[in-house]
Amino acid sequence: MIRHIIAAIATLLAIWAVVFMMELDKKAERFKQIREIIEKTKEVPLQVTTPEISQERERKEALKSEKEAEDEVARKLKTLKERAGSAMAFKVSPLYKQKCSSCHGVNGEGIIGPRLIGKSETEVYDALISFKSGKRKNYVMYGLLSKMSDEDLKALSKEIGTFKEKLDAAGK
Ligand code: HEC
Repeated sequence: MIRHIIAAIATLLAIWAVVFMMELDKKAERFKQIREIIEKTKEVPLQVTTPEISQERERKEALKSEKEAEDEVARKLKTLKERAGSAMAFKVSPLYKQKCSSCHGVNGEGIIGPRLIGKSETEVYDALISFKSGKRKNYVMYGLLSKMSDEDLKALSKEIGTFKEKLDAAGK
């Protein structure tokens, strides 16, 4: 009797297994179909535009034009600088050009450092000595001048003292 019951249970299990496998197959088939549909839709890119997305896009475009404007300004500044660099009204000594012009301008017109045109030889020399001794505190000028000889400072002061005259002579 027990054997019959076990046999019956085994048969039922076997049938259930077959049915289960068939169900699985059906599911797999359905998944396959779904995947095919998804694959197909991928070929046609979906153009979903929600307000958030279009706002984001506008923001990005605004940023881009802002960046372009910045680049434009930078470019203009560069050409302006180059023009200023080449628009030398009068020739300066190699020493001035090399050591001072980057901050005070090719003709002492002033960039980062103040304008030097119109300063007398003694004014400039006094300033340089004060910077060099540390009496007048300026880290940039101090560091620069500490490596320069007194003769150089004298020569530069003398030269800078003539800037105004030279500029006037150049008609600028
Ligand atoms: C890296 C930039 C830089 C360089 C290079 C430089 N200077 Fe200056 N210079 C300055 C700055 C900034 C000041 C203003 C400092 C202050 O007033 O404290 C200054 C101030 C001066 C002053 C005083 C001007 C005033 O109105 O009181 C003189 C003169 C001067 N520099 C001459 C020179 C000479 C000559 C050289 C070349 C040997 C030179 N500088 C190189 C940045 C520079």
